[in-house]
Amino acid sequence: MTDVQIKEIQNLLVAYGAGEYHKQGKISAQRDEIDMIISGINLLGEELLATTVSRDYFSGIYNSVADMVFVVSPRGMIQDVNNAVGSVLDFEKTTLIEQSINTITEQGGRSFFNEVKKNLAAGKQSFTKEIRFTASDKRLIPVSCSCSKIIDQNSKLKGYLIVAEDISERKETEKRILRTIVDTQEKEQKRVAADLHDSLGQELSTVKLLLSAINEGMLSSDDKYKEAYETCKSILDSSIINLRSICFDLMPASLENGGIHMALEELVDRLSKQSLIKFSYKCSGSLPILEKSLEIVIYRIAQEFINNSIKHAHAGKVKIALTCSTTHISFSIKDNGIGFDIANARASAGRGLSTMSSRAKAFNGSMKLNSKPGKGTQLLVTFPYNV
Ligand SMILES: Nc1ncnc2c1ncn2[C@@H]1O[C@H](COP(=O)(O)OP(=O)(O)O)[C@@H](O)[C@H]1O
Ligand SMILES: [Mg+2]
Repeated sequence: MTDVQIKEIQNLLVAYGAGEYHKQGKISAQRDEIDMIISGINLLGEELLATTVSRDYFSGIYNSVADMVFVVSPRGMIQDVNNAVGSVLDFEKTTLIEQSINTITEQGGRSFFNEVKKNLAAGKQSFTKEIRFTASDKRLIPVSCSCSKIIDQNSKLKGYLIVAEDISERKETEKRILRTIVDTQEKEQKRVAADLHDSLGQELSTVKLLLSAINEGMLSSDDKYKEAYETCKSILDSSIINLRSICFDLMPASLENGGIHMALEELVDRLSKQSLIKFSYKCSGSLPILEKSLEIVIYRIAQEFINNSIKHAHAGKVKIALTCSTTHISFSIKDNGIGFDIANARASAGRGLSTMSSRAKAFNGSMKLNSKPGKGTQLLVTFPYNV
């Protein structure tokens, strides 16, 4: 072995150590054992070059995808993330590695990873869910997660791949559309209420007045007319009451002028007089000045829930509460009626529950509806103040 050949081998190994896999060693004309070794090292260089090119190619794709990509272990620990994770959530890669994926998912205490595992274990190829990630500054970012299993050549589970798309903009647009719908409906209801009150209401009152005048003129006339007069008057009285109640439901003046607290007090008061159900309402914490459209949304949810408690639940009691903290307002309403199976009801044709939930969504509200046959129904909706 010549010194030149030893130097050649040394140089090659140093170059490969530095990642310069394109370097190749010179093979002498003798083609002896040393040349065989150099030729072997050259082959190694070619292999390393090919692997590095494909690794860099893959890593280029992995890091240029705009969606966040997580590789997690079979136990749910983050093994690798792409660059998008850092730029969307503002985390250093090193702080996430070996952390559970659940540390960044917001699911009200439920484990997102368990849900992924359960769904994929059931034989599904992929599992998709919209959830929220918590960024490093605690901002909640809505994402659509698409999850699948990573399987090796021996069909052994190596972990999970979670690709998460940031859907903040889509959610904002959805919310704006929902709010426009809610606002338009409200404007329309207000207009109908005002029209009914101003035209029909006025006319009914005028007829009532005229009828009284006719009655005075007929004082002496026979009982047959008197009876007809009394019937007319009682129909008219009930029409006026009905019309008032329709206008109240469409847009109560107390909500327009006084606010949600006054409107709920008045609603409970009015309903208690009209039905056998016991209504109660209380407000705790100090109620700030709310956006009018948010007050209307809370009121509409209350109305729909109460309608259901009367129509379906055969409830004896309905309890309403507003709770205000420094950042959120919570509206809770419960009945002690027959309860129902929510999953079945969602599939039914009723629009009430779905309208409630889209109204809440339009104002960033989170809604929890609980019900079990025989156990009554409870609803809790929480809105942040800055909707
Ligand atoms: N408080 C409740 N108690 C018992 N059942 C209820 C209650 N609220 C809703 N439901 C059930 O859920 C269904 C859907 O309600 P909803 O969407 O408001 O539609 P609708 O009232 O028009 O039927 C109802 O038909 C009823 O079976
Ligand atoms: Mg209903």
